[in-house]
Amino acid sequence: MKPIQVGLLGIGTVGGGTFNVLTRNQEEIRRRAGRGIEVTMVADLDVERARSLVGERARVVADAREVIANPEIDIVVELIGGYGVAKTLVMEAIAAGKHVVTANKALLAVHGTEIFEAARARGVMVAFEAAVAGGIPIIKALREGLSANRIEWIAGIINGTTNFILSEMRSKGLDFDVVLKEAQRLGYAEADPTFDIEGVDAAHKATIMAAIAFGIPVQFDKAHVEGITKLQAADIRYAEQLGYRIKLLGIARRRDSGIELRVHPTLIPAKRLIANVEGAMNAVVVQGDAVGTTLYYGKGAGAEPTASAVIADLVDVTRLHTADPGNRVPHLAFQPDALANTPI
Ligand code: HSE
Repeated sequence: MKPIQVGLLGIGTVGGGTFNVLTRNQEEIRRRAGRGIEVTMVADLDVERARSLVGERARVVADAREVIANPEIDIVVELIGGYGVAKTLVMEAIAAGKHVVTANKALLAVHGTEIFEAARARGVMVAFEAAVAGGIPIIKALREGLSANRIEWIAGIINGTTNFILSEMRSKGLDFDVVLKEAQRLGYAEADPTFDIEGVDAAHKATIMAAIAFGIPVQFDKAHVEGITKLQAADIRYAEQLGYRIKLLGIARRRDSGIELRVHPTLIPAKRLIANVEGAMNAVVVQGDAVGTTLYYGKGAGAEPTASAVIADLVDVTRLHTADPGNRVPHLAFQPDALANTPI
């Protein structure tokens, strides 16, 4: 069978990782997806750089609309980020009948309801495993692995930059600014690092997890968001002396009155597993009524960990598209019909 054709919008860190892993693990991926997955077009404003990354293997263009307009392309992977042009392009790709895979948590947390509704109406899938906790398959866990459960709460370290900063400040006594620069150098931080340190990025991810776990609309504007910029070295030291670690947690919890959604620095007893998640690693704890407590741990950022999640989505979309190209796949796309009007 002809390989499924993928167009990448943006080939920065994650796009480059996606291209490399798809090439390196081509055979395994083909077996798992049931057919080949080929990136045949790449759109990036920096055409020269993109060409140097993909060589002759894909056609490189500057204009993302050329990818969307190409009838050969089955899946568009949006790796541009942000709410602006990325939203326009995702909506255009959906309107053109393309499935969309995206790592864009900001876009989904703010405009997810509109995007998922458009995808449902057009009969295409929007998959977004890479949007939350990078390489950890937490979306799949919440939507599929734990689908028997009434989820009680989720609490996660879901921003690698801030966890890296807090870890380095605690273990090496380094200053906030020094560690932030290092996180940027290592490629963990957002283009605008205030999204990391003010808790916005974690709140985007918590919003998406809450929507899936509790069947509520994505409502980022209802989240309580507090970052780590007010923390001082002394806070971290005092917490340590009292037997606690400070972690920036994204929390979504079921209450009688609705769903609570919040991000803030949290004191965690040092002996807990999650208190010992160090560096840029992510970890998410999910409490379900049947399964009890489950813990997911791994790299939440970086080229290949995030590519791992992007490609898992490509494999899922390929399988389902191939099984029935006309099918509207409810478990991959969000399910707007099933949304409760639970207040947040
Ligand atoms: N800036 C994010 C982080 C990248 O530090 O976790 C991954 O979403």
